[in-house]
Amino acid sequence: MADLATTYLGLKLKNPLIASASPLSADVDTVKQLAAAGAAAVVLPSLFEEQIEVERMRLGTHHRDLLPEGLRHVPDLAGYNQGLSGYIAHLYKVKKAVDIPVIASINAYEGGDWAHYARILESAGADALELNIYYLSAKPHASGVQVEQMYLNLVRDIRGSLQKIPVAVKVSPYFSAMAHMAQQITAVGASGLVLFNRFYQPDFDIETRQVTPSLDLSSSTELRLRLRWAAILSSQITADIAITGGVHSTQDVVKALMAGATVTMMTSALYKNGINYLTTLRDGLSSWLDKHGHESVADVRGVMSQKYVADPAALERANYMYVLQSNT
Ligand SMILES: Cc1cc2nc3c(=O)[nH]c(=O)nc-3n(C[C@H](O)[C@H](O)[C@H](O)COP(=O)(O)O)c2cc1C
Repeated sequence: MADLATTYLGLKLKNPLIASASPLSADVDTVKQLAAAGAAAVVLPSLFEEQIEVERMRLGTHHRDLLPEGLRHVPDLAGYNQGLSGYIAHLYKVKKAVDIPVIASINAYEGGDWAHYARILESAGADALELNIYYLSAKPHASGVQVEQMYLNLVRDIRGSLQKIPVAVKVSPYFSAMAHMAQQITAVGASGLVLFNRFYQPDFDIETRQVTPSLDLSSSTELRLRLRWAAILSSQITADIAITGGVHSTQDVVKALMAGATVTMMTSALYKNGINYLTTLRDGLSSWLDKHGHESVADVRGVMSQKYVADPAALERANYMYVLQSNT
């Protein structure tokens, strides 16, 4: 039987399947089920920068009128991620309940006190930290360079504050020079890049004229963007690559590995098919490797990366031209 073991952020994993940050990991029993079904590691739901700011003011979101303008929109997320103290207690309980690595997640966009909170999460037992930088730059005077610098400062501060656990950075694909940004994030201390954040696009209710939040689960088509970037980046940066977004089948997992990803992460597939679907994927991966005569995941990792292409951008342009004429 093929060896599924892998290493992500220096952590030894029994296979390349991770449950990504979601409410599924907000409950100790569900985390146990994830581990029993074959998850090699679990990412806890994110703690949000704004949430901590509100908590620190000790006003709570029910005293919205007293909050600074920028924080009045912040929902009460305690039911989602249990708030800072609840999060630390949850992390501690999860660590005791399962023997797989537990990755804490923070969702931030500015320096703030994150270095301090990252250290607290490390002391509470997190095996690694996933820093989700979810920032939509909407200020015309803020340049791309400034926004990128903000990202880098955040990663550097958090990396600098941690004693020994690694940091992975979950990013969006919306950079004008993604490869350069990936390399810079690695240079300031990220051991892993998680590709990619999904920006949930709010909808308009035309009757009430309200902006309505909407959450659509992903499908395998979303994987392609991640495959492209994993294939471009995997041989050019030293950080491990995790693919999150659109991993739904055994074939998707194999494709991600072939593109050069170290691990695949999933949420939508587990919501759609149930937690035990992880077992189907793990066994499916094992059978696929056996059937194709591979002894381990390492045999296929990166075989379709763009390592041997001198200028991946030229390949991308050529592919684009092929696609345009493929329907004629
Ligand atoms: C209900 C829900 C809650 C989520 N919460 C978080 C979160 O707290 N932090 C985070 O980084 N990602 C969060 N995500 C994003 C997932 O971790 C994942 O990156 C995304 O859903 C894409 O992967 P998928 O195609 O496997 O669903 C959430 C996704 C869903 C569906």
